[in-house]
Amino acid sequence: MTQDTTRRDFVTAAAATVAAASALATTHAVAADSESKETKMTIAPAFQTSTTLKPLPFDPAKLNGLSEKLIRSHWENNYGGSVKALAAVKTRLAQAAGDKDLPPYVYNDLKREHLIRTGSVVLHEIYFDNLGGSGKPGAKERDAIATAFGSFDAWEAEFRRIGAGLGGGSGWVMLGLNEHTRQIENYWMADHATAPANTRPLLVMDMYEHSYQMDYGAAAAKYIDAFFQNIQWEKVAQRLEA
Ligand SMILES: [Fe+2]
Repeated sequence: MTQDTTRRDFVTAAAATVAAASALATTHAVAADSESKETKMTIAPAFQTSTTLKPLPFDPAKLNGLSEKLIRSHWENNYGGSVKALAAVKTRLAQAAGDKDLPPYVYNDLKREHLIRTGSVVLHEIYFDNLGGSGKPGAKERDAIATAFGSFDAWEAEFRRIGAGLGGGSGWVMLGLNEHTRQIENYWMADHATAPANTRPLLVMDMYEHSYQMDYGAAAAKYIDAFFQNIQWEKVAQRLEA
């Protein structure tokens, strides 16, 4: 469970009704209050979710080349929409887990949405967290990237190239530390669900059109320039050291 997740307000208030429907998704918890020995139902951790949006870690009016209107809309409508959708999907999963007559392939319709919405929520939180900076990398992360790619410029050229290839469509670009191969690489991601295996995100760039259309129309290259001007490199350094 990530720090972001632990900070959230888990929704348990509505748990009882949902939990009663599912032996798989629920556990019994004895109330801590010794005055009350009654047993209450709670949602098992795997089925818990939240409708709380993580606040933007910067003032959206102060970004360079990305308007406040764009950032607020992206945060509220696209990220916020994913948070709500994930909560709805997980609530239905908790219900469906107790429905033994539901065919597995129908259950998997929900699991597909679960995967996609989880990817959207997590990637958007990582994205907003790596914005709001000066765009100037510190020596440590610059050296690590230069070592991995031959030069920092070579890394930036490939990262931008992947982004350009996603222009006009959807997807993400990720600079990641693959913890299996121990390599730092750039990854193309077609959508929220195509994350590289066992890889820690260091820097992510949203290439869905909603990330820039309001400010730049179809000119994705201008958005990529603006993204680079606002990278919060201190966050990248923290992720590298974590
Ligand atoms: Fe987005």
